[in-house]
Amino acid sequence: MDSRPVGIFDSGVGGLTAVRSLRALLPAEDIVFLADTARVPYGGRSAAELRGIAAGDTRFLNALGAKAVLAACGTVSSNCPETVLALAAGPACGVVAAAAREAVRVSRGGRIGVVATEATARAGAFEREILALAPGARVITHGTAELVPLAEAGRTDVNDAAVRGAVRRAAEPFRGEADTLILGCTHFPLLAEAFRLELPEAELVDSGAAGAKAMAELLRERGLLAPEGRRGGAEFFVSGSREGFARAAALFLPGGIDPARVHGADLTQK
Ligand code: DGL
Repeated sequence: MDSRPVGIFDSGVGGLTAVRSLRALLPAEDIVFLADTARVPYGGRSAAELRGIAAGDTRFLNALGAKAVLAACGTVSSNCPETVLALAAGPACGVVAAAAREAVRVSRGGRIGVVATEATARAGAFEREILALAPGARVITHGTAELVPLAEAGRTDVNDAAVRGAVRRAAEPFRGEADTLILGCTHFPLLAEAFRLELPEAELVDSGAAGAKAMAELLRERGLLAPEGRRGGAEFFVSGSREGFARAAALFLPGGIDPARVHGADLTQK
């Protein structure tokens, strides 16, 4: 048993897909969440830049007393998972292996799409994980930079023409090609409804939820679960605008978000 918080980080609101899933799976856990919105988007950055960013984010969560770290970010998880594993004060995981496992489990025909950021598409980690589990699978990967800014602005409504247009373009390579689509950037499950309208035949895999499931398993295996029978809370740390984050986050977390729980994060100090 361990009542210290679980640390989760992302460049922004995308990581809330993992926060909401972990809260549903393990309601007793406390969570500290870092949204590095001063440096969003991560998806256009080089692997070297991402290593430095991942190191800073992980150290920040260590300093908050996190017992484990979840990189709720497809871009970090696919470009530099070893940085997080090496620096986290406790066990750590990302979203790639878990989402690949889930996609292989639900895919009916082994035609698996991965839609993610450009840096994730370039890294090829999802494809490697899928093919290690299912060597006969056909994997199509597509990177896009259009969707993260929309989600960060809280724009995910399918009646928003910009949202529908951007998701239509992101979905194009998978039309008639994929029976399963990994939303491999954690921002993209926030746009799941629009993806469902574009690709009604495809099973969608939420990478944030998959990462949360992997973290729950890790905590259970290592005997690090919080004592049961209590209701855990969440504290949010933001390197950019606290107000902007609180506004968007209120849309994506069931029950909204208490602005008093949103704190500034100075990542230049770490
Ligand atoms: N949500 C992150 C990911 O899963 C980062 C997106 C970005 O900042 O470009 O890739």
